[in-house]
Amino acid sequence: MFGLVQQSGLAQPARDQAQQAELLRLTPGALARRLNGQRLSSQLWANRSLIGSISASLVRTMLTGGQGARYRLLGHLWIELQRFLAPNVTNVDLPDLGVDTTLVEGDVTRHCRLVLAAMGRLLQCRTVFEIGTYLGQTTWVVAHNNPDAQVFTLDLPSLDAVHQLRYQVTDPEYFVVWNRGARFRGTPEAARITQLFGDSATFDFSPYFGTMDLVFIDGSHSYDYVKSDTEAALRLLSDRGTIVWDDYLYYPGIYRVVTELSPQLDRPIFHIVGTRLAVYSRLDILQQGWPEHHASPISAPQEAAAATEPEPGRLVRA
Ligand SMILES: C[S@@+](CC[C@H](N)C(=O)[O-])C[C@H]1O[C@@H](n2cnc3c(N)ncnc32)[C@H](O)[C@@H]1O
Repeated sequence: MFGLVQQSGLAQPARDQAQQAELLRLTPGALARRLNGQRLSSQLWANRSLIGSISASLVRTMLTGGQGARYRLLGHLWIELQRFLAPNVTNVDLPDLGVDTTLVEGDVTRHCRLVLAAMGRLLQCRTVFEIGTYLGQTTWVVAHNNPDAQVFTLDLPSLDAVHQLRYQVTDPEYFVVWNRGARFRGTPEAARITQLFGDSATFDFSPYFGTMDLVFIDGSHSYDYVKSDTEAALRLLSDRGTIVWDDYLYYPGIYRVVTELSPQLDRPIFHIVGTRLAVYSRLDILQQGWPEHHASPISAPQEAAAATEPEPGRLVRA
């Protein structure tokens, strides 16, 4: 039973059962916003005792904090500005996505992996394609938490291959040692993981067209590579297919591709606030929820694969 104690600063208790039922249907984020209303001025007032010390720290960091501290501070501010002002991309709070009852396992160095694995479960996905394997940490977390899924993961064939790429490569730190897929090798999940090798700009994706329920784009982060990987990803999608871009907000190339592409699709790309992830799905996740809530059943990947001509995403404008 939903009930709120009537105290100063707390919301009024829901008056009748209909109102209580309506509040219970809201996600935690929407409920908090409803109960708090637009109380910006009162929240600012409540924080007034901190304004002096925070302002002093800001000035001290900018003047004497050193290059590292200045870089981190400005970096965080820039990320928030990009997020807030992103053209064509909807910001969605994690609790509003309805992932709160989905339990996943994995290490917490990057919680985006856990969110991705949870999305895989909610999408009931049976096929996953990852561009950019590296150690295979995400590959393993996704495979482990989606026990019915076949996972394909693509990376370059060797350290030398980095000198013969079509477009610009990013992140030189990934090209010092070569142990792609080390994290899942020898684990039970490896039986469901297929390692593929090639430059994602020239790799032949056609055998997988129309069959992937989840595509994770996390290879080179230059504009040309992300654009080319995204074009491939759109062709890979099954009927319930969903593309997730990692590091949206952290690389100008990804940000540009995502914000340029979003208005050309049948529904906007959304960013999951608090993660690095941007998402496009053939399912209307934000309005209709995850597949279990859909009225009509979603066709199996084999049926989608049987389609003679792959539909390259749902572009509504060229
Ligand atoms: C950010 S790491 C991937 C991390 C991994 N997805 C994870 O979450 O643990 C990027 C990977 O993309 C690979 N990569 C870079 N350019 C590539 C290309 N043109 N084709 C295929 N893989 C590429 C790199 O070798 C590197 O392993």
